[in-house]
Amino acid sequence: MKQSIMIALSKGRILKETLPLLKQAGIEPTEDLNSRKLIFPTNHSHINLLIVRATDVPTYVEYGAADLGVSGKDVLLEHGSQALYEPLDLKIAQCKLMTAGPVGREPRPGRLKVATKFVNIAKRYYAEQGKQVDIIKLYGSMELAPLVGLADKIIDVVDTGNTLRANGLEPQELIAHISSRLVVNKAAMKVKHHELKEIIDGLKQAVLNTS
Ligand code: ADP
Ligand code: PRP
Ligand code: MG
Repeated sequence: MKQSIMIALSKGRILKETLPLLKQAGIEPTEDLNSRKLIFPTNHSHINLLIVRATDVPTYVEYGAADLGVSGKDVLLEHGSQALYEPLDLKIAQCKLMTAGPVGREPRPGRLKVATKFVNIAKRYYAEQGKQVDIIKLYGSMELAPLVGLADKIIDVVDTGNTLRANGLEPQELIAHISSRLVVNKAAMKVKHHELKEIIDGLKQAVLNTS
């Protein structure tokens, strides 16, 4: 008998782009994912899907409440856990983590104010450059901050650049190329090795077939 496997995914991009890969790996939800439920069965009786907030995926996997999950590299860098295996780049939800600021605005004298939801990444980035900055934590719509004088710059993910442009901002420094990764609980990787290897290998093949 197979050991049970929980896969943590988040609604939106990750769910949308991960489902075709899971399907190619032979795993399909058997109930409508648009319902209000948070745990979904699949066509394999031992595999279930958990739907959690994107930023919570590393936490569920780290504590073993989920055996594996799919998470943006931005979220993983911000979460900063050594407790997760990252065996596979799924090459989905690709974007860039960047600094951005108002088009053509001269740098203000004094300490730079940077608004972001990626506080840990921001601290590390400016510390590496030996720059002292004030970091202002926001939970979304970072693009607004420089427009209303809350901050000089933001750090956010950029894809087409449309959101920046629509708000009079321009991308500045590249911090990291981002894509979503498969993350696996280290203890589960030992205890449930057979079941997890089967899924990881299936997804590896799916990524190869897709790119
Ligand atoms: P959230 O609700 O946390 O914003 P999203 O579904 O928007 O969740 O984003 C999930 C992941 O997808 C992010 O962690 C990031 O890695 C990536 N991502 C975010 N925005 C974009 C984008 N505009 N284009 C491509 N990938 C993105
Ligand atoms: C993300 C991100 C940017 C935008 C960048 O927002 O926070 O605002 O995408 O993409 P672009 O360069 O193609 O415009 P998202 O669409 O995830 O909306 P959200 O505020 O709900 O996270
Ligand atoms: Mg988003």
